[in-house]
Amino acid sequence: MCGIVGYVGPQVGDKALDVVMEGLGRLEYRGYDSAGVALVGDGKVETRKRAGKLANLRQALAEADLPQTATAIGHTRWATHGGPTDANAHPHRGGHDGKLALVHNGIIENFHGLRGRLEAEGVTFTSETDTEVVAHLLSAAVDRTGDLTEAMRETVADLEGAFTLLAVHAEQPRTVVGARRNSPLVVGLGEGENFLGSDVAAFIGYTKQAMELGQDQIVTITPDTYAVINFDGTPSDGKAYEVTWDAAAAEKGGYDTFMEKEIHDQPHAVRDTLIGRTDARGDLALDELHIDEDELRAVTKIVIVACGTASYAGMVAKYAIEHWTRIPVEVELAHEFRYRDPVIDEHTLVVSISQSGETMDTLMAVRHAKELGAMTVSICNTHGSTIPRESDAVLYTHAGPEIAVASTKAFLAQITASYILGLYLAALRGTSYGQAAAEIMAELQAIPDKIEALLGTMDRVKEIAYYMADSRAVLFLGRHVGYPVAMEGALKLKELAYIHAEGFAAGELKHGPIALIEPGQPVFVIVPSPSSEHGLHGKVVSNIQEIRARGARTLVIAEEGDEDVVPFADVVIRVPRTSPLLAPLLTVVPLQVFALQLSTAKGLDVDQPRNLAKSVTVE
Ligand code: F6R
Repeated sequence: MCGIVGYVGPQVGDKALDVVMEGLGRLEYRGYDSAGVALVGDGKVETRKRAGKLANLRQALAEADLPQTATAIGHTRWATHGGPTDANAHPHRGGHDGKLALVHNGIIENFHGLRGRLEAEGVTFTSETDTEVVAHLLSAAVDRTGDLTEAMRETVADLEGAFTLLAVHAEQPRTVVGARRNSPLVVGLGEGENFLGSDVAAFIGYTKQAMELGQDQIVTITPDTYAVINFDGTPSDGKAYEVTWDAAAAEKGGYDTFMEKEIHDQPHAVRDTLIGRTDARGDLALDELHIDEDELRAVTKIVIVACGTASYAGMVAKYAIEHWTRIPVEVELAHEFRYRDPVIDEHTLVVSISQSGETMDTLMAVRHAKELGAMTVSICNTHGSTIPRESDAVLYTHAGPEIAVASTKAFLAQITASYILGLYLAALRGTSYGQAAAEIMAELQAIPDKIEALLGTMDRVKEIAYYMADSRAVLFLGRHVGYPVAMEGALKLKELAYIHAEGFAAGELKHGPIALIEPGQPVFVIVPSPSSEHGLHGKVVSNIQEIRARGARTLVIAEEGDEDVVPFADVVIRVPRTSPLLAPLLTVVPLQVFALQLSTAKGLDVDQPRNLAKSVTVE
């Protein structure tokens, strides 16, 4: 939520503004209801900000006569306190002289009290935001201390909540100071120039050398230096790393939307997540999992915590991990987990799944799990983000940057990584599936080509989506691993096409949801493979007949060669064969394409649906 960028370069010119605007363009997925920049130079700070998408700010900048500077900061907002107006957009100015500008990601929880105190002291506010409070506090601290870094240190001591702050001051025109608590901030290290960003996408066009900051740290960048201190003033070192993808990975690559590109990236996302997870003998080897093998053998329960799409990946994983390891697995929405007194001990393995690694609800669940003594493993797509940093171990997914707000390739990579974890645990415990891990891995290795083939057959799905653009409600039914896929299909449709959509376990149908079926009601049914155990295939085929008999329009996703569904399906969408547990890696793809096309047919913004933001860094 909210993207922030900072830059200090060697020369006064246009580059500072260009870098910040380019960075905001790449971070716009984090929030897109207003945007602004501050330029520092010549003893003063200039700000420009506009409600609406970044395009509005671009237009305002084109019409403005702005000074050339070497330093700039910028912000793209997802509103929390105060609606998306020009006045509430960041940067916010501090002090009576307006010499300070500040951008902020997060929520200052004690801002009411602080605002009351400042108003009593005669400070006039020009916005409804929590951020403006910090701008005034910081400005007063600069007046007292004469130094922006020291002022930041004093100011953060008064703040409660989650924040990343970036500040510039007219009296220190070649400096940007950043601070972070519970919200992301990375440093980009250039030659004679330095960068700050909510994530590396902010500066990937300029440098791949990045540095993570820890919790409760302040960083000061100038063109040639960077310095990190803790909130208590003690010096610290950031952790440097090299970004493994380049700017092209964060571009549309010829597709109309990021989402379309990311759907087509999925074969790579799965393939890259599988790479390097086996040793020369083909055995699973998770070097990055720095948890003692004996401790992992002693695990008595696994709890998966995640939100949204990531939680559906967790639900899929539950079926596989329990089956392969015989360890009980619970899946819990991260925001519910810590408010229900969960039964956790040192033999519980808490696995968090998060694309961004910054989702506040998931982070808080991980912290709670640690407090309760659990071992914590993070499955994450963003190197150096907070959740993996705070977990005992991390298994990175290698989906590359996911920019479209609606998650697609990260979902497939999350399932893949959790399967690898499940097989690894099964091998450690010596279950029969652990012994057969190489065979299951071979089936997983075959999945990318199958996704590729499937993507080549999506014309019919696209056509249906165009016909269905006027639908008022769409239902999704699935069973076993198809159940979370049904919920994921429904979520994609809600968020992209603003259509009421609901995913159900097919077995639940007769317990209530069948009352929703009326003539013409579209229902997607994800049919288990005929090779599924316990006769599940036949049961779902019966469900299709039941809803068809009541007039539903049935859109059936079924394995190639499954002819049993044909008599009862209005439309059959074929997916390649694979083993039943791996099927979600294929069956979800037509649902993603369907939601994308339906959103396009309605003329909506596919990559940036209304009210949403990519990385939910507030609770
Ligand atoms: C839906 C979607 C969200 C995220 C959820 C968790 O398309 O993207 O439901 O899956 O907000 O985000 P991460 O994985 O970053 O923790």
